Amino acid sequence: MESPRTPTLVDGFGRRIDYLRVSVTDRCDLRCTYCLPKGFKGFEEPEDWLTHAEMTRLIGLFAGLGVAKVRLTGGEPLLRRGISELAAQISALPGIRDLSLSSNGTQLGRHAVALKAAGVSRLNISLDTLDPSCFARITGRDCLSDVLEGIAAAQAAGFAPIKLNMVVQGDVNEADIDRMIEYSIRGGFILRLIEPMPVGDTGRTAHGVDLSALGQKLAGRHGLLPQVLGGGGPARYWVSPDSGMSLGVITPMSQHFCAACNRVRLGVDGTLYLCLGQNDQVPLGGMLRMGANDAELSAALLAGIAAKPERHEFNTRPEKIIRFMSQTGG
Ligand code: 5AD
Ligand code: SF4
Repeated sequence: MESPRTPTLVDGFGRRIDYLRVSVTDRCDLRCTYCLPKGFKGFEEPEDWLTHAEMTRLIGLFAGLGVAKVRLTGGEPLLRRGISELAAQISALPGIRDLSLSSNGTQLGRHAVALKAAGVSRLNISLDTLDPSCFARITGRDCLSDVLEGIAAAQAAGFAPIKLNMVVQGDVNEADIDRMIEYSIRGGFILRLIEPMPVGDTGRTAHGVDLSALGQKLAGRHGLLPQVLGGGGPARYWVSPDSGMSLGVITPMSQHFCAACNRVRLGVDGTLYLCLGQNDQVPLGGMLRMGANDAELSAALLAGIAAKPERHEFNTRPEKIIRFMSQTGG
């Protein structure tokens, strides 16, 4: 039972918001075709990046109001200088019970041990294929082996279970799913198949596959059973009764899960994004830099949460979101 004193953040649709995703940098060392365009120059200006202290201050306000889970994302969060120190500051904040991080894995070999020591408890790693040339085609860089080494380093550092995120595109990597399932069984990973969303021009051109249907089919083929998990995230899971490996599908397009949404996002400049698929935002970072005090920032944050949109409109208005995923945090 929760103590009655635990603060809760509830939006206008009765959804409890206890999860904050923070994009600690919008830069990335890859250019996944569904995410960042080749030659992209429209990054945030470095002077607008919140410092560690500013980020920690804002996250502390969220924690004080009822956010208990934080995920560090990007861009590629490991490109942020001092990421482990930042992680340690965030995990030490009162009220934060779970700190996780999403990475593309290229730099994980160097960071895994320090991240673990800093209090990062869970890692999600993007991996769309095990074929080196397919990897290079999707990401623009021929560095699959770095990512596989990063994953091994994360396992050696004690991260378990590790989630692998695979964005599935029909004409690109769908044929690699069975191999990814076998790799995940061997490594004990949780493999999550993700439908690409029309975020930015890049996301709009990706060829998505209906994973609601495919998930069932794969589960049947690999002898996986439906799994009921706590936590209420957007994925639906099946589990292998023999190996314990899990397969999940994240289906924002074919079966949206907005009614159970529990999250908001903070950009590297401190912009609060209320929905991945809407433009509603609150410039908390700008207010902080203009000298707003904690009470003023908390009031703006609460007003934002109260106005959180009901759902994305990716299917009916795919043209709506022109910002790229790395800005809001994937
Ligand atoms: N649709 C779905 N997921 C995306 N990501 C990036 N762009 C998209 C998109 N258009 C996700 C990928 C990657 C993470 C960083 O962001 O899952 O693993
Ligand atoms: Fe970088 Fe992730 Fe975007 Fe790929 S999907 S370009 S790894 S932020």
